[in-house]
Amino acid sequence: MTHRGFHPSLRLLHWLMAFLLLSMLFIGVGMVSTAGPLYAILLAVHRPIGLALLLLALLRLAIRLRTGAPEQDQSLPRRVRCAAGLSHIFLYALMFALPLLGWAMLSAGGYPVVIAKGYLLPSILTHDLAAFAWLRSAHGLLALLFFALILGHIGAALVHALIRRDNVMRSMGFARSSPRAAPAPDDGELRAEAGEGTAEAPIPEDDAGSGADPAAR
Ligand code: HEM
Ligand code: HEM
Repeated sequence: MTHRGFHPSLRLLHWLMAFLLLSMLFIGVGMVSTAGPLYAILLAVHRPIGLALLLLALLRLAIRLRTGAPEQDQSLPRRVRCAAGLSHIFLYALMFALPLLGWAMLSAGGYPVVIAKGYLLPSILTHDLAAFAWLRSAHGLLALLFFALILGHIGAALVHALIRRDNVMRSMGFARSSPRAAPAPDDGELRAEAGEGTAEAPIPEDDAGSGADPAAR
């Protein structure tokens, strides 16, 4: 299914989860570089937010599969469109993998998975210290990979917003979205609108409807 922008609930979830996920990355790094009582406080925040993010990721994926996404900008090279699609799949995969690894890590270490005072989640792995060590490294490494992907993702979003100036950012924002990559009126069109004659040939039917950014052709 293709349309102008993401479903409003997906936009809301995108920004809420972006805020929570970025906070979790900083809380995690803060946690492992801290000794003493602060470690326990940060972990007590890290666990329930991480598990809430797992539920939000499930909800988001279900809505995304039902409501679809806007069509990709066809004026972008094929490999760029593939890279964008793949990076989104990896982002979704890590949104599931990180909380599951955290949960599995604590289970393998024999620690209780407390979400709030008196509320425990069941263990999802049997007690195994070798598995605990492995899962702990995997959780840390994948968190780093997630952070790198997010930086690339933000970079790409800024290229769309500030350099290409297309509608990709708007498709995830809260204003009404226009179709992707609506071409900015060029000089000739502006002069025609102002009632001045122009020597340029009219845009052929195909091109006018393609929605492609003239600068990218
Ligand atoms: C933790 C941080 C973030 C994560 C995990 C994340 C994840 C994602 C994912 C998975 C998508 C694909 C949506 C889908 O197909 O359902 C997406 C789209 C998008 N994100 Fe983010 N995002 C994050 C932060 C940001 C930030 C900070 C910006 C802006 C600077 C941004 C801008 C966008 C835009 C414009 C789209 C639409 C891209 C397109 O459809 O091609 N994201 N994001
Ligand atoms: C999206 C969710 C999550 C993110 C982004 C995340 C991120 C992180 C990061 C960046 C670290 C520091 C890793 C390091 O530098 O070695 C960390 C550590 C940790 N995380 Fe998570 N985490 C998430 C979910 C969870 C969940 C759900 C749990 C438990 C139920 C959990 C338990 C832990 C524990 C126990 C550590 C400390 C490990 C140690 O002391 O070495 N995490 N996390």
